[in-house]
Amino acid sequence: MRIIITGGAGFLGRHLCERMLSLGHEVLCADNLLTGRNSNIEECEQNPSFHFVRQDVTAPLRIEGPIDAVVHMACPASPPDYLKFPIQTLEVGTIGTRNMLTLALAKEARFLLTSTSEVYGDPKISPQREDYWGYVNPIGPRSVYDEAKRASEALAMAFHRRYGVDSRIARIFNTYGPWMRANDGRVISNFIMQALQGKELTIYGDGSQTRSFCYASDLVDGLVRLLMADSDSGETSSQSKEWGIHYPVNLGNPREQKIVDIARIVREMTGSSSQTRFHPLPADDPKIRCPDITRARRLLGWEPKVRLEEGLASTISYFRTYYCVLKIR
Ligand SMILES: NC(=O)c1ccc[n+]([C@@H]2O[C@H](COP(=O)([O-])OP(=O)(O)OC[C@H]3O[C@@H](n4cnc5c(N)ncnc54)[C@H](O)[C@@H]3O)[C@@H](O)[C@H]2O)c1
Repeated sequence: MRIIITGGAGFLGRHLCERMLSLGHEVLCADNLLTGRNSNIEECEQNPSFHFVRQDVTAPLRIEGPIDAVVHMACPASPPDYLKFPIQTLEVGTIGTRNMLTLALAKEARFLLTSTSEVYGDPKISPQREDYWGYVNPIGPRSVYDEAKRASEALAMAFHRRYGVDSRIARIFNTYGPWMRANDGRVISNFIMQALQGKELTIYGDGSQTRSFCYASDLVDGLVRLLMADSDSGETSSQSKEWGIHYPVNLGNPREQKIVDIARIVREMTGSSSQTRFHPLPADDPKIRCPDITRARRLLGWEPKVRLEEGLASTISYFRTYYCVLKIR
């Protein structure tokens, strides 16, 4: 396949580019490096089937020749990033998504959107199932991300219903692993870097809020299965048409943990004597976050395999090498 991956120079994009190359596909990575990095794709660039184009996907994009799949991942994804780039986040989720769907339509290519569990907002049910509509503040600071992704999903469904675009939507829950940025402000990277540097571990609220963390290789496995699934895959129940492959699929790890417990595990695994410091909870921070992955299991035969301790071990080793030994920024 010849695949466009927008946001391919970001944390998850880099993992997906690498996986697609290893499966023998040709990858065109389109990224404006807003929150991504050249260093993420240095290894991919050694492969002649990889091509990088520095491109803002909210601007018109011309690609010569056939394209089999468009994977639209471009979007600032960590809270400090989307709060720093609010307008760019809204634009990439609206104009950018429209551009990529238009490209998929013109090339008769499959389309995969990397949406997010944030479409559920601060959920009133747990675990979250795909048919839950969410509880989102449309004007709060985080709305730039949540609503951009909800608009992206609506666009994907509209292009599917109106033009028959073969679209798929992955609702990704918190994912971690090597190639995250040390300063991206996400829980796992924060805790690991603070522990390795002997600084206090920052906990927002009292730490009783829960999160579930999926390791990057598991997540990429789910994305590949979703992209490659037959377009007529669907549930076998009477709802089959309504809940076919074009409807959102949760991808995440259902093992839910309190933030205080994750801080403790990271401290133990890094051998750090760092203390914890509690800060006020940011606005609209969800109290619970846990995927129901029944649909991914049934539709894709997918479930995460990497245990938290295993994934943390390789992530800690990455941060130790890249940031503490090589001192890469
Ligand atoms: N990492 C997670 O836990 C997580 C959870 C839910 C959803 N997601 C989704 O997965 C995708 C990737 O997330 P990530 O964690 O790798 O984030 P990231 O910030 O590391 O990567 C995003 C990439 O998109 C690029 N980008 C942003 N705006 C662009 C634009 N206008 N044009 C071209 N490129 C642009 C950035 O430069 C960056 O390389 C995002 O769509 C995000 O919403 C991630």
